[in-house]
Amino acid sequence: MQLGIIGAGNIGGTLGKRWAQQGHQIVFGVRDPNSEKAQKALAAAGAQARLGTVAEAVAAGEVILLAVPWYAVREAVQAGGDWSGKVVIDAVNHVGSTIEQSPSVAETLWAMMPSAQVVKGFNMLGWNIIEQPDFGGIAADCFICGDHAGAKQTVAALVRETGLEVVDCGSLQNAVILEALARLWIKLSLGEMGREIAFKLLGR
Ligand SMILES: NC(=O)c1ccc[n+]([C@@H]2O[C@H](COP(=O)([O-])OP(=O)(O)OC[C@H]3O[C@@H](n4cnc5c(N)ncnc54)[C@H](OP(=O)(O)O)[C@@H]3O)[C@@H](O)[C@H]2O)c1
Repeated sequence: MQLGIIGAGNIGGTLGKRWAQQGHQIVFGVRDPNSEKAQKALAAAGAQARLGTVAEAVAAGEVILLAVPWYAVREAVQAGGDWSGKVVIDAVNHVGSTIEQSPSVAETLWAMMPSAQVVKGFNMLGWNIIEQPDFGGIAADCFICGDHAGAKQTVAALVRETGLEVVDCGSLQNAVILEALARLWIKLSLGEMGREIAFKLLGR
């Protein structure tokens, strides 16, 4: 599959590498191809990947991962050009906002690209967990939500390819909850537990 990744940092770089290992073609959409992050992400993803502009990554990708800081979302969306019909994975967290943050990042993003199919995902775990999702034989969970069943299926398959398990958390309205969960993960990871923690939903 052709995947566009906007933001070649911790999250974009880690997922680019994992998906390239699975045989996907990656275009990292970057502002500066000579930046340290862009070059590191390209080197890690190898021959399956190339660097381009943000617009080139959006045009090339069937699925686009948005992994930029919250403050850069509007600029990146504008630079992307035509997002219509794209499946967009929103990994962005509004770090520093309150629990009651509404509308969510995902809904704000969707308002900027109403003809795209936005799926919230990868926001409630650290990049290090995506890099190594296994906890002694138990896979960490990646919670996702969105309004388009087909888009969620596509994203769920991409999540599973990283070794994470998928929990479908329903409609995009629930993104506000996943974004609050991310703030909990960040709070805990900054404490004694450190970053080697992840959420797991139990069921019976
Ligand atoms: N770190 C985590 O463990 C983690 C976990 C879950 C979710 N998240 C979320 O994922 C997002 C990315 O986090 P990160 O840790 O990967 O950040 P990061 O390492 O700082 O990388 C951010 C990337 O975004 C790029 N960028 C910034 N402004 C841009 C713009 N206007 N257009 C295009 N690219 C732009 C940066 O490029 P330059 O090099 O050009 O600045 C950089 O490659 C954030 O919203 C964060 O909250 C992070």
